[in-house]
Amino acid sequence: MTLHHFILIIHLLAATVWVGGHLLLAICYLPTALKKKDPHIILNFERKFEALGMSSLALLIVTGIWMAYDFGVTAETWFHFSSGFEKVVSIKLILLFCTFICAVIAQFYVIPNLNEKNINRIAIIILSVTSIGIAMLILGSTLRYGGL
Ligand code: HEM
Repeated sequence: MTLHHFILIIHLLAATVWVGGHLLLAICYLPTALKKKDPHIILNFERKFEALGMSSLALLIVTGIWMAYDFGVTAETWFHFSSGFEKVVSIKLILLFCTFICAVIAQFYVIPNLNEKNINRIAIIILSVTSIGIAMLILGSTLRYGGL
């Protein structure tokens, strides 16, 4: 096994945790919370998942950038949208930024005054972060064929 292969396995395990955790939240916990109008169901899940989710996202970033450098897609080439591979890496970085924006909105604007009346706001954030995660996964799967 090469070092790149090992890093890819870590990337895939982290992607499993990040996307899997958000799918579990979106498919199992969110509908119950909406039906019962109980934000605590979501907040309890977030509290338990936070450390694992955040470490998996950190691992995704480190291993992703590492593998991009391995393929010669270095910071100077990002956001040029010139080669198929670099295009995918750049879109992934933009989506990563969107994930951060969602996290900031959730932490500072939505969660502090979440109640049964505005529970829909956190639902929008959860569905956005889950969809972005799935988009990142699909984009990742194109890289072995040369990207977009
Ligand atoms: C939520 C975040 C992410 C998810 C779910 C994700 C998911 C994936 C998946 C499923 C693959 C497919 C591997 C394969 O088909 O063999 C992949 C590959 C890859 N990802 Fe990500 N990724 C994420 C974030 C990132 C970031 C932030 C970067 C770097 C900017 C990145 C760079 C790469 C690279 C370079 C590969 C190709 C590895 C190879 O084929 O050797 N990823 N990713």
